[in-house]
Amino acid sequence: MAEYICLFNKDTLIIKPPKKSPLLLRMAVLVFSMVCSVYICLVCLRQINNKAKTNSIRVIEGPFHDNEIEVSEMLYEHYPNPKTFSRAECEGNPVRYFAILSMQRSGSGWFESLLNSHINVSSNGEIFSVRSRRENFSTIVQNLDKVYNLDWLSSAAKNQCSAAVGFKWMLNQGLMEHHKEVLEYFNRRGVFAIFLFRRNLLRRMVSDLANSYDRRAKLLNGTHKAHVHSAEEAEKLSEYKPEINSTSLITDLKNAELTVAKALEYFNSTSHIILYYEDIFKNRTKLKDVQQFLGLPEKELTSRHVKIHQGSLREHIKNWDDVKKTLTGTAFEHFLNSDY
Ligand SMILES: *[C@@H]1O[C@H](CO)[C@@H](O)[C@H](O)[C@H]1NC(C)=O
Ligand SMILES: *[C@@H]1O[C@H](CO)[C@@H](O)[C@H](O)[C@H]1NC(C)=O
Ligand SMILES: *[C@@H]1O[C@H](CO)[C@@H](O)[C@H](O)[C@H]1NC(C)=O
Ligand SMILES: *[C@@H]1O[C@H](CO)[C@@H](O)[C@H](O)[C@H]1NC(C)=O
Ligand SMILES: *[C@@H]1O[C@H](CO)[C@@H](O)[C@H](O)[C@H]1NC(C)=O
Ligand SMILES: *[C@@H]1O[C@H](CO)[C@@H](O)[C@H](O)[C@H]1NC(C)=O
Repeated sequence: MAEYICLFNKDTLIIKPPKKSPLLLRMAVLVFSMVCSVYICLVCLRQINNKAKTNSIRVIEGPFHDNEIEVSEMLYEHYPNPKTFSRAECEGNPVRYFAILSMQRSGSGWFESLLNSHINVSSNGEIFSVRSRRENFSTIVQNLDKVYNLDWLSSAAKNQCSAAVGFKWMLNQGLMEHHKEVLEYFNRRGVFAIFLFRRNLLRRMVSDLANSYDRRAKLLNGTHKAHVHSAEEAEKLSEYKPEINSTSLITDLKNAELTVAKALEYFNSTSHIILYYEDIFKNRTKLKDVQQFLGLPEKELTSRHVKIHQGSLREHIKNWDDVKKTLTGTAFEHFLNSDY
């Protein structure tokens, strides 16, 4: 477009000189047209350069804080061209790419179901729970490309009218291992990171142990369920009280904390938002922040998930006294008392 106008102007300027003008005037017109051409071409070049710049992804500089929203709209809007279907009437709508970076039993299943209740969000689940997909970084990229091209087929896919597409990625599913390459990919392709962590790492541990147990025991009519949709199912699953290894407890909690800190450090230069399960649980307006972060039309988000371990932790740990004694007087003592 720009080039076309450039040539057009040049032609009119060269062709137009009046026929019977004296040599001097002709020379003046020629010089003028040359200067004009050069000027116009310079302007064109600058426009082309600018366009190239806005198309590439700029790394947004920190510092970032919890929930800080610092997004340059242009850089993160994509127009994917899926192989498997046509975006039809939504072809002209921009799509944002995201990844929920989390740890097991941190409320990410619940959070993802909330996101997916939005008519314009496709969050495709824990795609890298399948080991072969994270065999090496090339297989990871293949799967990422497929998701962000809207070609990942899952029940969550909204196809044509997705305005945000992503998936859930657990830190131990190749994410930390390949953090350098993943960071480069996220920044190059303009992928938003949504960190979702759980503040109470002791409750996370209980949930993790109970979930591992149920994987074997299959308490609900012989089927293992990581998430439930009814109070009866929740009650049934929470009947099992795990025993916590109090010898390694402090080390285990410290390691979990360290892993979170490392993840935040590795992906600090992405455009990101940091969320905590407990905060969303207490205050649903946090979900507005997320929708804003993803540039979505704001909707009421809903989920059918029912929390499994309700109420005091005392009721959910077999060797409660032991655990209490171990944590009392440490930085983790407050984990014993919070109710969610
Ligand atoms: C990555 O893994 C795939 C599948 O196992 C294999 O075909 C491919 O050669 C591997 N690529 C590299 C670079 O190791
Ligand atoms: C959201 O989805 C609806 C229904 O499919 C569609 O009409 C609308 O254009 C979409 N909005 C965006 C921002 O993509
Ligand atoms: C187990 O199956 C029975 C009979 O199909 C049903 O009534 C009951 O609700 C199921 N229980 C759970 C916990 O799913
Ligand atoms: C508890 O942790 C300690 C220290 O890591 C370990 O030696 C021990 O085997 C663990 N006990 C059980 C029952 O797993
Ligand atoms: C992220 O980077 C900013 C600025 O470079 C720094 O202030 C902040 O401490 C970093 N955060 C983490 C978790 O590394
Ligand atoms: C709930 O979250 C919103 C948005 O993050 C925040 O502005 C507000 O202060 C919070 N309300 C409470 C009661 O914490």
